[in-house]
Amino acid sequence: MLALPLAVLLLLMLHVLSQLIAPRDKTRPPVVFHWIPFWGSTASYGLHPVRFLCTCREKYGNVFTFYLFGKPITAVLGKEGNRFFFSGEPDVLSAKDAYCQFFTPVFGEGVIYDVPHEVFMEQKKFIKSGLSPEKFRAYVDLIAEEVDHYLDASLFSVPQHGSSTEWASFDVIDVVSEMVVLTASSTLQGPEVREALDTSFAQQLRDLNGGLAAINFFFPHLPLESYRRRDRARIKINEVYTNIIEHRRSGTTQEDDIIAFLLNQTYRDGRPLTSREIAHLMVALFLGGEDTNAAAGSWALLHLAERPDIAEELYDEQAKHFLDSDGHWRPMTYEHLRALPKLDAVIRETLRVDPPAHTLMRKALHDICIPQALAKPSEDGIYVIPKGHFVLGSPAVTQIDAGVFTDPMKWEPKRWNDGTNVFKVDDLDPSEQVDYGWGLVSKGLHSPYLPFGAGKHRCIGEQFAYVQVGTILATLIRRMELRLDIPFPEHNYQTMVSMPSRPFDFGRPSAVD
Ligand code: HEM
Repeated sequence: MLALPLAVLLLLMLHVLSQLIAPRDKTRPPVVFHWIPFWGSTASYGLHPVRFLCTCREKYGNVFTFYLFGKPITAVLGKEGNRFFFSGEPDVLSAKDAYCQFFTPVFGEGVIYDVPHEVFMEQKKFIKSGLSPEKFRAYVDLIAEEVDHYLDASLFSVPQHGSSTEWASFDVIDVVSEMVVLTASSTLQGPEVREALDTSFAQQLRDLNGGLAAINFFFPHLPLESYRRRDRARIKINEVYTNIIEHRRSGTTQEDDIIAFLLNQTYRDGRPLTSREIAHLMVALFLGGEDTNAAAGSWALLHLAERPDIAEELYDEQAKHFLDSDGHWRPMTYEHLRALPKLDAVIRETLRVDPPAHTLMRKALHDICIPQALAKPSEDGIYVIPKGHFVLGSPAVTQIDAGVFTDPMKWEPKRWNDGTNVFKVDDLDPSEQVDYGWGLVSKGLHSPYLPFGAGKHRCIGEQFAYVQVGTILATLIRRMELRLDIPFPEHNYQTMVSMPSRPFDFGRPSAVD
C-alpha cells in the first residue's frame, strides 16, 4: 500500500540530489533547480514568465535551461541574448520548427510556418507590400468612423469630454478587442468580412482564436472541447474566405484591400497564390494582429486611466492639432497621426512595460555554441545548446532592465520625449537597415527595445499597429475621461499574448463635477 508513495518519494529525492551533487556536463548551460521531473518550472514560469526569467537571470546569468512539461527550454537573455536569438539562421534556430504545430491548426496549411522558410518569406513580402502607407492614409478615417459608431451604438451612453455626467464603467478588454476586430475588418480584411462579422463569423473567430492559448503551444492536439471548437471554426472560416475570394476572382467586385492585392501576386517561380493560401494568409493576418493590438490598446487605456495627467496631455495634443475654432474635430490624417509625439510616446511606453509578445521561441536544429560575449562557464570553455532544445528570447526582459531604463517598472511616456533614454532608437538610421527578402527594415539587433522583434522574423504589422491603436486611442480620448478606481491589474499569461487580468472595473466616462 505504501510502496507507491515511497517509490515516488525516492524518485523525487534522487531527482533533487542529482541536481545538487551529481557532476554536471560543463558544456551545458546551468539548469534551473526544480523539484518535480517533467513538471520542471511549469508553475513559476506559467504564473509570470517575465518575473521568472528575471529572477533566473540574476541567479544563473544570461543563459540557462529550464523545463516546461518535460521540454527543455534554453533562455538567452540580455542585449547579447536578443542579438543571438534574432540573428539566428533559420536552418540553425528555426521559428518554423518551434511554432508550426501551434499555429498551423489555427491559420491552416500551406502558409507561414507550414511551408519552407523561403516560401514564408515570399508570403511575408506579399502581405508587407499590401500594408503600405498609401493604404494607411485611407485607414485612419475608416478606423475613427468605426470607433465613433461603436461608441454611439454601444449600450452605455458616452458623455462628451468636459461634460458633467455620472461616471460609468466598461470592460476594457472586451471593448478594445471588439474595436480592433471591427476596425481590422473594415480596413485590412475588406467589406465582405466586415459584413460577415454581424453573423456567426464573429463567434467562429473567437473560437479559432481560442486555439492560441499557451497550453496549445505545448499540447497542440488534446481531446478537449476548445480544440474541437478551434477545428470546426477553422473549416467554417475558410469557407467564408474561399467564397469571398472565388467571388472576387469572377471579376464582379472592384475592391482595393489586401485580398485584392494578394489575388494579383505571384511567387518567384511564376505561380499565383491559390484561393486556399489567400484564405489562410488572411486568417493569419487577422489573428496575428488581433490579440497583440487589443493587448496594446487595453494596457494603454488602463495606464491612461491611472494617469489622468497624461490623458489630459493627450487630449490637449488632439485639441491643438484637430479642434477647429468652432469646437468641431477635424479628421485625423495618417501624416498627422505619425507626428504626434505624446500619442507616439504612450504607445511606445506601453509596449515597453507591457509587451504583448513577451517571450519568443525557436528550435535548435543543431548543437549551437553560445558566443562568449553572451555567456561563458566559470572554467575556460563554452556552452552548447543541444540540438532539439527550444531556445527562448525575451525582449521584455531588456525592456525593464534597470541598466538601460531609469525607474524601469514605471510607466512614464515622457521618457521618450525628454532625452532620458540612454539608447538610440535606430528605426530611421539607413546604415542599420537591411532587406531579408520582404522589404527594407531596421536590423534592430543592437537595441534593448524590441517589442516587434528583429531580424528575419520581425513583425510586419508594426505600422498598422501604430495606425490602429493610435487612432482608437485618439478617438477615445477625444470623447471621454478615464479613471481607474481599482488597483492596476496584473498580467494574465494564460494566453500567448499577455492581457490584463480580470476582474477589473474601469471608470469610464466624462468629467467630474
Ligand atoms: C512578428 C509583435 C502586431 C503580423 C512579430 C514578432 C513580434 C511581434 C515580437 C516577432 C516574432 C518572432 O520573432 O518570433 C507584435 C506586436 C504587435 C504586432 C507587439 C502590436 C502591438 C501585428 C499586426 C500584424 C502582425 C497588426 C498583422 C497585421 C506579424 C507577422 C509577423 C510578426 C506576419 C512575422 C512572423 C515571422 O516572421 O515569423 N510580431 N506584432 N503583427 N507579426 Fe506582429
